[in-house]
Amino acid sequence: MTSPTPESGSEKAPIAVALDAPDLDSLRTWSSAVAPVVSCLKVGLEAFCRDGHVSVVQARLGATEAGNPDIDIFLDLKLHDIPATVRGAARAVAPLEPTYLTVHAAGGPAMIEAAATALPATRIAAVTVLTSLDAQNVVELGIQGDPQEIVERWARMAVDSGAGAIVCSPKEVASLRGALPNDVKLITPGVRPSGADAHDQRRSASPRQALHDGADLLVVGRPITQQQDLRAAARGIAQECGR
Ligand code: C5P
Repeated sequence: MTSPTPESGSEKAPIAVALDAPDLDSLRTWSSAVAPVVSCLKVGLEAFCRDGHVSVVQARLGATEAGNPDIDIFLDLKLHDIPATVRGAARAVAPLEPTYLTVHAAGGPAMIEAAATALPATRIAAVTVLTSLDAQNVVELGIQGDPQEIVERWARMAVDSGAGAIVCSPKEVASLRGALPNDVKLITPGVRPSGADAHDQRRSASPRQALHDGADLLVVGRPITQQQDLRAAARGIAQECGR
């Protein structure tokens, strides 16, 4: 009996490809290219602010053409507003049936709960301290504690308020895995295959290391989307994940 390939059934690699595409046609083409290999497509602020719901519809159409209609959609909108407004925004994206929707943990427990209640079938993924902020920036913002401590405190608060996932840097994943219940998904951007360009990611890790430390889903953009052959690039990273 042969072992399953990354393309078969539930054996898709735990990778969310960041579809930070310049236009809808590219987004759909990228989606078709990677959908046979990966479990998730991430549609972020750039595409959603430009094309709205159509960006997610096109991502799904691309995946469907490539034979993976059930691919997970990760809607990375990083919502942060009063609870009533976030509840309204969450309801507004309900028809897109995202598997994940990001919110800022800094919005507080009532806001996170509002999003979780509005979208019971979606995992609300809380972003704690942005990885673009360093210790000095955190002090300037008047937040008490070192960034690692704040990440853990906010992650616990988010989970207690209904978040089912936490977005964190590869540097934080091991300590969060120990601090949070096992059913909370840990999602890590800043993942780079060995030998790849780090681009502007300051704290990157290899796919194998991030998974070893407890990550459930790896967000990878440019190391796949800037390659000539996106499917081959996705397969290479999937192999590094052991799939
Ligand atoms: O191209 P690259 O792999 O760096 O893309 C990473 C994706 O993850 C981008 O869509 C970026 O917005 C997102 N992201 C990140 N760092 C975070 C949160 C999200 O790079 N802390």
